[in-house]
Amino acid sequence: MTRAVKALAPSNIAFLKYWGKSDTTRQWPANDSFSMTLAQCRTETMARPFAGSDHVVQLNGTTISRGTASGAKIFKHLDYLAERLRFSDRLAITTHNLFPTGCGIASSASGLAALTLAAVGAWSESTSLDELESKDLSRHFLADLARMGSGSAGRSLFGGYVQWERGATPEEQDFRPLHGADHWRLADTIALVSSAEKAVSSSSGHSVAATSPFFAIRQSGLTERRDAMLAALTARDLATLGTYLETEALEMHAVMATMTPAACYILPQTEAVIATVRRLRRDGLQAYVTLDAGPNVHIISTQEDQPILVRHLQELHPDLGLLLDHVGPGPELLPVEENARA
Ligand code: PMV
Repeated sequence: MTRAVKALAPSNIAFLKYWGKSDTTRQWPANDSFSMTLAQCRTETMARPFAGSDHVVQLNGTTISRGTASGAKIFKHLDYLAERLRFSDRLAITTHNLFPTGCGIASSASGLAALTLAAVGAWSESTSLDELESKDLSRHFLADLARMGSGSAGRSLFGGYVQWERGATPEEQDFRPLHGADHWRLADTIALVSSAEKAVSSSSGHSVAATSPFFAIRQSGLTERRDAMLAALTARDLATLGTYLETEALEMHAVMATMTPAACYILPQTEAVIATVRRLRRDGLQAYVTLDAGPNVHIISTQEDQPILVRHLQELHPDLGLLLDHVGPGPELLPVEENARA
């Protein structure tokens, strides 16, 4: 009997950023990136074969069609997966984020990773990652499928710290798990500056990144920065990693702000939080800032220091929402009980 499956996939926060592509059709990034897989910010997606003329998708409680912006991305990815893997069954999909929706936290990495896992699990009648592996659907292969929906989603197929290697050709790009979550228990405290929908999506941003006069300059220094950051990650050297982390995030935002058309994600409150973190650091707290394609601030510290950081943030920015996360073990695929079906 065909079974329903549930995928739980985490989001990730990039330490070295992917911003810009060398080949859009083949989703080939301009540079290597690496990230920390999160534990709490996850998407849960259920899928089961369905006897209809098209897939049915429910996103955060609402049925969405191919015509909507989020629907277009999801259906396009389902069509891509079906064609590449030669599956023809229609699927009933129910998906929701396990972090507050509309809080401005990007859900494309966790969303597209969970969608890939759930759809492939339902089509291949597999209810665990091990079962997928035994059917030649390895995690590397699944990551390769997921990155076609959203580049950063490929990194969410692994736990701990994960590199997306660009390789010399589009065929050679690959995902490499660098260290497991136990290597270094880092925390990500996310300051929720704005919950507004992004004015410029990352997919349209990537396609114009190279129009920034700073893009080529950034690219010329990235290999050296990558090696220094990877060495600091291996050595668990937060002072070195953190210093690069801030430069890297602000440099990516300098590229974003100077592209045509420009994307200015940083808000006054973003800058206020960055200033607070720098002040706390001067007072001895090891905490460093990074940013995604949005105004929310990700503050990286050890898990031990997270409560102290949170206390300071609550005192200095009482109106700011905070999400407390940390490095996590990666995605899961599970069978769904009959009475809990999508
Ligand atoms: O995966 P996309 O297309 O949503 O791009 C992600 C871009 C950043 O989040 C800004 C950086 C990254 O490497 O995750």
